[in-house]
Amino acid sequence: HRKYVAFTPVAKTDRRWPDKTIIRAPRFCAVDLRDGNQALVKPMSVAQKQRMFDLLVKLGFKEIEIGFPAASQPDFDFCRKLIEEDRIPEDVHIQVLTQARPELIERTYEALKGARKAIVHVYNSTSTVQREQVFGMDRAGIRDIAVNGARIVKANAEKYPDTEWTFQYSPESFTGTELEYAAEVIDAVNDVWRPDQGQPVVINLPATVEMATPNVFADQIEWICDRVRYREHISISVHTHNDRGCAVAAAELAVMAGADRVEGTLMGNGERTGNMDLVTMAMNLYSQGVDPTLDLSGMAEITDVVEACTEISTHPRHPYAGELVFTAFSGSHQDAIRKCLAKRKEGDTWHVAYLPIDPRDLGRRYEEVVRINSQSGKGGVAYVLERDYNISLPRWLQIEFSKLVQREAETNGGEIDSLTIHRLFEDRYLKV
Ligand code: KIV
Ligand code: ZN
Repeated sequence: HRKYVAFTPVAKTDRRWPDKTIIRAPRFCAVDLRDGNQALVKPMSVAQKQRMFDLLVKLGFKEIEIGFPAASQPDFDFCRKLIEEDRIPEDVHIQVLTQARPELIERTYEALKGARKAIVHVYNSTSTVQREQVFGMDRAGIRDIAVNGARIVKANAEKYPDTEWTFQYSPESFTGTELEYAAEVIDAVNDVWRPDQGQPVVINLPATVEMATPNVFADQIEWICDRVRYREHISISVHTHNDRGCAVAAAELAVMAGADRVEGTLMGNGERTGNMDLVTMAMNLYSQGVDPTLDLSGMAEITDVVEACTEISTHPRHPYAGELVFTAFSGSHQDAIRKCLAKRKEGDTWHVAYLPIDPRDLGRRYEEVVRINSQSGKGGVAYVLERDYNISLPRWLQIEFSKLVQREAETNGGEIDSLTIHRLFEDRYLKV
C-alpha cells in the first residue's frame, strides 16, 4: 500500500473554517469484536475474529476490545487463544467488557491471565429509564453497583501483578442519565480506583442510544469534563451509536468538547443502526489535514476483510470506502474534475473540485473517477478517450460525439464503458 502522501491543506487560520476544529486525533479504540460482533446475525467464527483482530492491528489500533469473555464462551476462548498464542503486539492493549458483578469480574480476569497489557471495562446502566423500568432501583442502589464493581476490579487486578492494567468504567445509557448523577457515580468509582495515585483509568461515556443532536451530546461531554474530580488523571472516552445517523458527528463534536478517546467500529457495524464508523471519522480528520494515526490507505483490503467477517456488504456510497464515492456521472462534475486534474502537477497539494481527497491516498485510482452514462457531458467523454486511447478531440467534435454517446447510453439504459465509447468513435469517424 501507498501510505498517505499529502494532507489536504486546510490551514487552521483559513477563514472558511470555524475557530473550533479538531487539531489532533483522539485515541481510537476499535470495538468490532465486541459491540460489532454482538450485533451480527451470525457472530464471527474464530477464524473471522482472528482476521478482524489482525486487520485492526495492521491499521494501527492500539486499543482493541476483543469481547465479553465472562458472558460468552467463544469470547473467552478467543481471548485465551490470543494470549496463549502470543498474537498481541507489545504495544497493543486488549480490552474486555464485563458487567459490574463479582462472579463475572472474576471470570474476566481468568480470561486475561498472562496478558501483557489489558483494559478491564466494567459497566452498569445509569439512566432514568433503566433505573426505574429495568432495575427498579434508586440512584444510590445503582451507584453502589458501580462502586462495588470498581472495588472487585481493583482487588482482582492485585492478584495478577504482571499485567499492566487499565480500568475503564462506562455509565451505560449515559445520554439518558442526569448529568449531576452521572458525575456523582464517576467520582465514586474514581474514589476507589484513585487515578491520581497512578492507576490508568478511562471513563467512557456512551450514547448507548443516540437521543439528541450532536451539539447536545458535546455539551454533556463538556459538562462532565469540567465537573468530574481527577479530570487531569483520567482519559475521557466517548462511545456513540448511530440511531439518529449522527454518530460520527457526535464523536467529532465530543472531541472538540474535550474527549480524549473514541470507540467505534470499521464501517460502523454495531447494535441497531450501528456504532460510530471509525473509517469515516479517521478519514474526516485526514481530509482536514490532521494525521489520523491510523493507516487506511489500503481501503480495498479493509472493505474485503470487514465484509468477510461481518457478512455485511459495504454500501456503494459509504463515505471514503464505497465503490461509487470517487465517481462522477454528471457532465458538469466530470468537466470540473477533468480541468482540475489536468492542471494539477504531481506533488501539488490536493485541490480538485468534487473530490475531497486524492483517491490514490486510499489505494484507489484516477481511472475510476469518470464513468459515463446518459447524464455525462462532453467533458467526461473526451476525458475517457484521451485517457484510455490518447485521442484528443477538438471542442466542436466533443459536442457532436458526446450527443452520440448520450443516445447510446439512453438506449442501453446504463453505464457505457470506455471500450464501447471507442467503438462508437471508430464506427462514426474512423471507418471509411
Ligand atoms: O453502547 C453502550 O452503551 C455499550 C457499553 C457497554 C459501553 O456498548
Ligand atoms: Zn455500544
